[in-house]
Amino acid sequence: MATQFLISLLLLSGYALTSATEFGRPLNRKLAKLKKKEQLTHFKFYWHESVGGSNATAAIIIPSLPQYTNTSHFGSVRVIDTPLTLGPELSSKLVGRAQGFYAVTSRTDLELTMIQNFNFFEGKYNGSTISVLGRDVALNETRELPVVGGSGVFRFAKGYVELSTYLAEPIAGNSVIEYNLYVLHY
Ligand SMILES: *[C@@H]1O[C@H](CO)[C@@H](O)[C@H](O)[C@H]1NC(C)=O
Ligand SMILES: *[C@@H]1O[C@H](CO)[C@@H](O)[C@H](O)[C@H]1NC(C)=O
Ligand SMILES: *[C@@H]1O[C@H](CO)[C@@H](O)[C@H](O)[C@H]1NC(C)=O
Ligand SMILES: *[C@@H]1O[C@H](CO)[C@@H](O)[C@H](O)[C@H]1NC(C)=O
Repeated sequence: MATQFLISLLLLSGYALTSATEFGRPLNRKLAKLKKKEQLTHFKFYWHESVGGSNATAAIIIPSLPQYTNTSHFGSVRVIDTPLTLGPELSSKLVGRAQGFYAVTSRTDLELTMIQNFNFFEGKYNGSTISVLGRDVALNETRELPVVGGSGVFRFAKGYVELSTYLAEPIAGNSVIEYNLYVLHY
């Protein structure tokens, strides 16, 4: 029954059945469960980093080159597993986690190259991820990271996320960043 349905779909869509040895072939988007139109969704959440203490959400895995330890920290790499919350307080609703790493990639300024996967927990987004990769000029008022893709409901995703610092406590090693994510997906 299911096979018959598949075959009639294939015939309807005008594509011939191809041999199993073919590497790539055109596919009707219905078969990939793609909707006709892309939609734009805006997400707003807060990203919490704490560098020190037993609940650290960021760990330095590579220290900076010695000659930059008092300046830009060029060369240092941190791995992160940071909570994403609906409001700016850490106690507000947990909507996901950001997992990935970032490196200081400027010899003169606090400029980061960030690689992050947002893993969302809410409703229909639960279990779906968004991947971002970009340049974060940490001391700038706003920064922008491109969305490079996604999984689950975010397959074929593209877009960007705007970062703005909500709270920075450099001595304690805590920061809260507001994330505004704009994503096109099906
Ligand atoms: C770490 O988190 C736990 C559970 O949320 C909390 O009970 C504890 O006080 C926290 N510790 C620190 C040092 O913040
Ligand atoms: C960094 O600063 C510390 C304390 O001021 C100093 O002892 C150290 O020599 C400095 N390191 C470099 C590479 O300049
Ligand atoms: C998200 O999915 C996981 C695993 O399927 C489930 O355990 C969890 O309760 C879900 N969370 C929400 C908020 O629906
Ligand atoms: C720095 O911030 C300004 C406005 O706040 C923005 O226009 C500019 O694109 C930002 N530059 C970078 C490199 O993010």
